[in-house]
Amino acid sequence: MAKNLLSIKDLTKEEILDLIKFSNNFIDDEGNFRKENLFPEKIVANVFCEPSTRTKSSFAIAAGNLGCSVVDFNIDNSSVQKGESIFETVDALNLMGVDLCVLRHPKSVIRELAESLPKMVFINAGEGAISHPTQALLDIKTIIDHKNSLDGLKIVIVGDLDHSRVTSSFVEGISNFDVDSLIFSGHPEMCSKYQNPEIGKYEPDFEKALQDADVVMTLRIQYERFEKDLDLDLETYKNSYQLSTSKLGCAKADAIIMHPGPVNYVEITEAVYDSENSVIRQQIANGVAIRMAVLSRFLSS
Ligand code: CP
Repeated sequence: MAKNLLSIKDLTKEEILDLIKFSNNFIDDEGNFRKENLFPEKIVANVFCEPSTRTKSSFAIAAGNLGCSVVDFNIDNSSVQKGESIFETVDALNLMGVDLCVLRHPKSVIRELAESLPKMVFINAGEGAISHPTQALLDIKTIIDHKNSLDGLKIVIVGDLDHSRVTSSFVEGISNFDVDSLIFSGHPEMCSKYQNPEIGKYEPDFEKALQDADVVMTLRIQYERFEKDLDLDLETYKNSYQLSTSKLGCAKADAIIMHPGPVNYVEITEAVYDSENSVIRQQIANGVAIRMAVLSRFLSS
């Protein structure tokens, strides 16, 4: 296994499946996370330079469950506000004895950091609109929990795909599996990178895309990443691309509905979020188990 988890492409199919299997050991029969004092001497720093609820909290909980000390780095109260660069910031944590840095950053800085600080382990917790490997792992785990395998499934991803690091890492992660069909859907101006994809195909008509789907992954509009104001009539958008109970009727009856969060209820209705098909809350819980597995493996390597 690589020393750092910078991209899902750092993992083979076998390593992805091993991490998912290993993560199941951290959930007991009642669905609670086991607390194992496996790494009491290790220090994990949670360095988030973009907002986060799920990823940041789940890494902190996962590290605590494994017995690690956790440095909860808060960028707003840090010396970054006095002009310090991310390189000086992470080097300072390195010099203080941090073993593993969980990093979310709007820019692609993680590779250069990993090269310049070889003693530290780096886990990518979100790299701009580029990648989010642990989200891909928990998404694949959630699909396997419900469908046993990715093989033979029809998977639909809908929403603001151009700004979605969740989509890019998920597609890279499943590219080694025998998914039957992968369909990208959404407003053409939000799917420019997916009109002629390397794997799968683009279908602008969301109801057509949903026909017989096994898995539907919905994504919010990432307003914060648009360079110019978005001229969009929300009601028209919802008519075409919001996953409603009536559109869900086009998918298979046992289709699972996913969303990485946070949910805005533009891309999905509250009724679908709360429906029996929704596994969105399980994705959040799976985030802790997956991050316990990732921290364990990468702290041991
Ligand atoms: N899915 C995800 O990355 O959520 P957060 O931004 O809340 O961490």
